[in-house]
Amino acid sequence: MTKLIYEKSTSGRRAVLLPEPGVSRKPVAELIPARFVRQSGPALPEVSELEAVRHFVNLSRLNHSIDTGFYPLGSCTMKYNPKVNDAMAALEGFRELHPYQPEEQVQGALEVIHTLQELIGEITGLPAVSLQAAAGAQGELLGLMLIKAYFKDKGEHQRTKVIVPDTAHGTNPASAAMAGYEVIEIGSTERGLVDLEALKAVVGPDTAAIMLTNPSTLGLFEEDILKVQKVVHEAGGLLYYDGANLNAIMGLVRPGDMGFDVCHLNLHKSFSTPHGGGGPGGCAVACRPHLEPYLPVPHVSKKESRYFLDWDRPRSVGKIKGFYGNFGILVRALTYILAHGKEGLTQVSRDAILSANYLKEKLKDSYKLPYSQPCMHEFVLSGVWQKDRGCSTTQVAKRMLDHGVHAPTVYFPLVVPEAMMIEPTETESLQTLDEFVEIMLRIDKETKENPEIVRNAPHNTPVGRLDEALAARKPNLRWKPL
Ligand SMILES: Cc1ncc(COP(=O)(O)O)c(C=O)c1O
Repeated sequence: MTKLIYEKSTSGRRAVLLPEPGVSRKPVAELIPARFVRQSGPALPEVSELEAVRHFVNLSRLNHSIDTGFYPLGSCTMKYNPKVNDAMAALEGFRELHPYQPEEQVQGALEVIHTLQELIGEITGLPAVSLQAAAGAQGELLGLMLIKAYFKDKGEHQRTKVIVPDTAHGTNPASAAMAGYEVIEIGSTERGLVDLEALKAVVGPDTAAIMLTNPSTLGLFEEDILKVQKVVHEAGGLLYYDGANLNAIMGLVRPGDMGFDVCHLNLHKSFSTPHGGGGPGGCAVACRPHLEPYLPVPHVSKKESRYFLDWDRPRSVGKIKGFYGNFGILVRALTYILAHGKEGLTQVSRDAILSANYLKEKLKDSYKLPYSQPCMHEFVLSGVWQKDRGCSTTQVAKRMLDHGVHAPTVYFPLVVPEAMMIEPTETESLQTLDEFVEIMLRIDKETKENPEIVRNAPHNTPVGRLDEALAARKPNLRWKPL
């Protein structure tokens, strides 16, 4: 088999192709037609190691991260990621794996995946699990593809609609549309919960599924979840659980016990992988046995004491991602789960709920609280009182940056005007929570006494107000100006 290796040469390292055994080595450059071979080296910056180290350390200082400050970004579960997770993922036997290595050489890695599949099945109450997807949204698409394949096999082609509440995360309707479904939005009650009557009005023989997260993106537990599941199941539809908010319920209640048929979990949220800034992510999709045949190939399975990649799944929807998932994230998730155990995971959720309710109670007199019932792991405030004083929620959020705190999720969910969605997570100390309360109260006071300072914030960050749309459309990716 042809093999690419790197070997020392006078100009550093060069790539060499080792073809068949016994055939002489050829530098890659000699295999490329002469007209494509470059005549001079690339004009890359020449810097010393020290300069490179300083450059990257200084760059990293410009970033806000959970390691440098409080990060109450609602719906994102920006909790502390124990470094032992990274150490495990960096073990040579995991780090140096190649996805094309034969199964006999990667039994340990397959065991990691298989064990994690079993534990996720237990945590969710949905026993059939795939760890192939790389993000929550990709898991949503996969979950919906399972539902689609299931109804296709049953001949129920008329099930073309997916119901989504108006508090849903934007990825839910997007994934449903991507999977080829028509999205039907339903409203919420005054208490921010799924409106059962609205649900009954739209559910029917054309319903493929309802997509819900519980607790919702308002941080509220759907008290009527069993009624919701009854309505949808009686109409022949399925229930999809968006598990991005799992941090609120681990060990307390399971999606399977609430009646859901399929769910995804953002491993990079509840199971403590560093994320933000776009990745990396990992996702588990768990389902009931009737959806199992459609899970992606290859599936990591076990026969007697041997783990193997099972491609023999004729009804599978195929692959959702290259190879077998984002393996480093899976090692981190397994480490986190094993380190906590059942009791520890339950405590995580209890503490996350306690922290959110503590902040809610401390802030509700200064910022409007649209839903007053106890919250789960996050809650939503409205900045309408501050807006009336001429300071928008964007400005309040920017002012928080001056105090070294990452802003909460703002203007979402859409049902709350001037929304600020705050998720403190379980990993913050009481002292940090109290400091945050103090900052929020100080900003509220400023909106009354010195609104200009809020309107023009931030004042002490490396950059001020960015034109984010322009930055996305015309990114400046050069290492130095022309
Ligand atoms: C409720 C909810 N669902 C789905 C997602 C999508 O997850 P991901 O960002 O991993 O694609 C998120 C992400 O923030 C979320 O909060």
